[in-house]
Amino acid sequence: MTAQLNTAIFFGSDTGNTEAAAQKIAEKLNLKAQDIAGCTSEIFDDYELLILGTPTANYGEMQPDWDYFVPELEDADLSGKKVALFGLGDQVDYPDSFLDAMGDLADLVVDAGGELVGAWSTDGYEFNDSRAEKESGKFVGLALDEDRQPELTDDRIATWLTTLGFNL
Ligand SMILES: Cc1cc2nc3c(=O)[nH]c(=O)nc-3n(C[C@H](O)[C@H](O)[C@H](O)COP(=O)(O)O)c2cc1C
Repeated sequence: MTAQLNTAIFFGSDTGNTEAAAQKIAEKLNLKAQDIAGCTSEIFDDYELLILGTPTANYGEMQPDWDYFVPELEDADLSGKKVALFGLGDQVDYPDSFLDAMGDLADLVVDAGGELVGAWSTDGYEFNDSRAEKESGKFVGLALDEDRQPELTDDRIATWLTTLGFNL
């Protein structure tokens, strides 16, 4: 069960939305969310489940702290670890690159040997294109839109954590 795994939550955030979502997740799991800024890949060593959160910045780009962390991820060995992603984006202003950075982070995780868990339905979102939708109808992780659907965030987080196997 995912809930019994030694779990850590990491986020990168420019304007605080992803940080706030990470704090909500952390509160529900009685954990502390940690900022990825300035970290090296050894911070993952002790954990069996990594919950990683990223917004999409600048028209389809990675958030700068995650971007800086990419070489660390390329060197990391995540084999044997489960990785659950959550992404923040804005489906109205950026419908052609909605949550792209979550998709890019997913690619890096898989390349590093990590096992992605926590895919999430694209139902309830309106967008044209997303690199986070690798399998039709599914995002690679939880999709949150604090700009357009903030009222859905709490329920989405709770449902997602339940599907990951946590008893809230
Ligand atoms: C300049 C700029 C570019 C953005 N580009 C995208 C994008 O390409 N795709 C997307 O889904 N969201 C995009 N967003 C929306 C952010 O991802 C969204 O506001 C997110 O909640 C910000 O999270 P943060 O507060 O943790 O940085 C963009 C926002 C800004 C200001």
